Amino acid sequence: MPSYRLNVNGVDRTVNVSAADMPLLWVLRDVLNLTGTKYGCGIEQCKACTVMMDGQPEKSCVVDISSAAGKRVITIEGLSSDRSHPAQQAWIEHQVPQCGYCQSGMLMGVACAMKAGHHGKEIVSELGGNLCVCGTYQRIKTAVASL
Ligand code: FES
Ligand code: FES
Repeated sequence: MPSYRLNVNGVDRTVNVSAADMPLLWVLRDVLNLTGTKYGCGIEQCKACTVMMDGQPEKSCVVDISSAAGKRVITIEGLSSDRSHPAQQAWIEHQVPQCGYCQSGMLMGVACAMKAGHHGKEIVSELGGNLCVCGTYQRIKTAVASL
């Protein structure tokens, strides 16, 4: 059984998986029990599965564990321990989520943009591709514009 090392939310982890092409999303959810990252489409179309990998947004449904080995991965569970990340605070202040399913992917995408030094309306103009079947887009734009 292949074994891979990667850092997840600041902790070095070794994972044993059945195949080298197992998606990182599966590893996060089924092996490491980090279920905050969601499965939406599995084909790079919805961004529900977005995580931060070495500071960049990545769709974990299409990143093989063999490609994630040695990388630093941040999931929604690692964004903050107490919802204190500015994006989380903005989400709370503007009451963004409805069902919540898409929101971890949304937040991780915004967190990556912030990490790249972007702010407010700059991030709004970069948003795109994250699907929300509940239609929270306007509240997302309002929350992001405040960052
Ligand atoms: S589940 Fe990864 S892009 Fe939709
Ligand atoms: S809040 Fe329900 S899918 Fe976005």
